[in-house]
Amino acid sequence: MENHDRRKFLKVGAVLSGSLLLSPSLGLAQTQTAVADKKKNKIAIKQRTLGTGNHSIEVSALGLGCMGMSWNRSFIPERKPMVDVIRKAYDMGVNFFDTAEAYGAFTNEELVGEAIVPFRDKITLCSKFGFDIKNGKLTGGLNSQPKHIREVVEQSLKRLKTDRIDLLYQHRVDPNVPIEDVAGTVKDLIKEGKILNFGLSEADAPTIRKAHEIQQLTAIQTEYSLLSRDPEKDIFPVCEELGIGFVPYSPLCRAYLTGYINERTKYTVGNDNRGSLPRYAPEAVIANWPMIDVLAEFGNKRGLTAAQVALAWLLAQKPWIVPIPGTTKQAHLQENLWAANYEFTAEELKQLTQSVSEIKITGKRY
Ligand SMILES: NC(=O)c1ccc[n+]([C@@H]2O[C@H](COP(=O)([O-])OP(=O)(O)OC[C@H]3O[C@@H](n4cnc5c(N)ncnc54)[C@H](OP(=O)(O)O)[C@@H]3O)[C@@H](O)[C@H]2O)c1
Repeated sequence: MENHDRRKFLKVGAVLSGSLLLSPSLGLAQTQTAVADKKKNKIAIKQRTLGTGNHSIEVSALGLGCMGMSWNRSFIPERKPMVDVIRKAYDMGVNFFDTAEAYGAFTNEELVGEAIVPFRDKITLCSKFGFDIKNGKLTGGLNSQPKHIREVVEQSLKRLKTDRIDLLYQHRVDPNVPIEDVAGTVKDLIKEGKILNFGLSEADAPTIRKAHEIQQLTAIQTEYSLLSRDPEKDIFPVCEELGIGFVPYSPLCRAYLTGYINERTKYTVGNDNRGSLPRYAPEAVIANWPMIDVLAEFGNKRGLTAAQVALAWLLAQKPWIVPIPGTTKQAHLQENLWAANYEFTAEELKQLTQSVSEIKITGKRY
């Protein structure tokens, strides 16, 4: 980190820091002291642990969600600047990258595979299987048949230009395939060295337990943000009990919590799921605006943006949470990463949590 950047970082840290509010280590996960890096522009991001024992991984407290670089966020930027964003993220201390077979479909894995070549062995690379894809298009169905999982993994490895996927999630639970068969297939792939760790996305607590019996889970990836707090009820207790990490996807509620979108925002039909999600209907966007007001008011006094407050709040909930905000902009990347170093005092976290919990959320998430 250059002197100028380091001074800025220390200054913000000194002004903002109070007692670190992360829960005491439960043996499930721990935060680690930030390691300063000499590399230019690198932010000293704290590390966190997802999972336990042989299936634990140590990753930067914030990862990078790469989906929006190829899919579902209205525009598809040119490839070169997206390779640059991914490489910039690594330069800035991110070592946890998220993609999936379904994103594109396929094109996001290809992009990520190209971008990570210079540092493949120094990162945790995550992908997902589980959607039915025909002729490069999602059919709307699911497919976690064991034979299909194996085929997908072979193809993902090629697109990602690697010989192993560090963390492979089932993207959605397939009601036609017992979770024990899915976990058994991944267990075999782990024995073969093609997969290193296993995760589930959007699975309920009983499914998590069943899968974990067969193959130890490292992380659950599910939507979690200040507008979508359901996992606190059923998923966090099982993660805590079994020593499984939690990876919030859409942690900025697909940009809503940044204050960047409003009731007039238009979404590209066919390449942006927000256009069909109830929470982005104009009336819901207006009704939920008190959340932005709370975040902005908290942030304005402390030199933080709404997005930074939203991410810092998620990180403060459990030490085994690692959000993966997505962005196509280097400026947003830098903004988001600063959030990983914000430390709430006990009192300010209590007050912020009280304020956000009083807001009635309008519009279902799906
Ligand atoms: N497991 C699953 O089923 C699942 C589902 C959805 C997503 N995911 C994963 O989670 C990742 C993140 O989710 P997401 O992209 O849906 O939602 P998100 O991270 O909550 O929000 C991303 C959106 O916020 C904007 N943004 C990010 N930082 C910003 C900032 N500082 N200021 C203003 N705007 C900002 C981005 O636009 P810009 O590009 O303009 O910054 C983008 O439109 C995905 O990339 C994917 O890897 C997983």
